[in-house]
Amino acid sequence: MFRPSYPIHTRRLTLRPFTMGDLDPVWGYQRLPEVAEHMLWDPRDLVRVKVALERMVKEDRLAAEGDCLSLAVVDRERGVLVGQVELVWLSDRHRQGEIGYVLDPRHQGAGFATEAAREVLRLGFEGLRLHRIVGRCSAANTPSAALLERLGMRREAHFRQSALVKNAWRDELVYAMLREDWLQSL
Ligand SMILES: CC(C)(COP(=O)(O)OP(=O)(O)OC[C@H]1O[C@@H](n2cnc3c(N)ncnc32)[C@H](O)[C@@H]1OP(=O)(O)O)[C@@H](O)C(=O)NCCC(=O)NCCS
Repeated sequence: MFRPSYPIHTRRLTLRPFTMGDLDPVWGYQRLPEVAEHMLWDPRDLVRVKVALERMVKEDRLAAEGDCLSLAVVDRERGVLVGQVELVWLSDRHRQGEIGYVLDPRHQGAGFATEAAREVLRLGFEGLRLHRIVGRCSAANTPSAALLERLGMRREAHFRQSALVKNAWRDELVYAMLREDWLQSL
């Protein structure tokens, strides 16, 4: 079982578990078409955001493979929730994980996703002692691919039409970082 000690501070951000008090700011970005465009889900109304948030509130630890750690990303200076990051424990036996992230468009373009996702890599490699962490995105999601490259992850694959999402075939990129890459980057 791995439960980080909260709150987690990076240079500008605080990462912490979600609470139901985060409903308004999370709805503020999960309802937007441009945020949902490359996700598996459609823009969410308030009821759907509440259901999603109820799940994320419980995701404050990784107890078994398949679990997801979901954290709120808060801009400390302004005290504003700017987005969410996650770490999925893909395999215990093979020590594999996956990162994910969503940023409110009003707070994009300032490096917050890079800063928060780097901390998630740290949690995966140093907290959960993973051997390899992947990041996957639609090939059309240029900002997400750019973020994975900024993190120093290596593009391992471009799968052609590997997913049928919202009635359209989607190419998928897979990026990865190994534990030894992470240690070298410190
Ligand atoms: C993917 C996503 C999180 C990327 O957000 P982002 O704001 O582009 O990423 P960052 O917060 O790291 O910001 C990077 C930008 O800020 C700039 N920046 C400014 N200060 C910076 C700093 N201190 N550190 C890094 N970048 C900085 C970078 O140059 C970059 O700008 P550019 O896009 O003009 O090159 C965002 O597009 C998003 O939430 N999309 C919708 C949800 C989604 O698709 N999630 C991924 C599913 S796979």
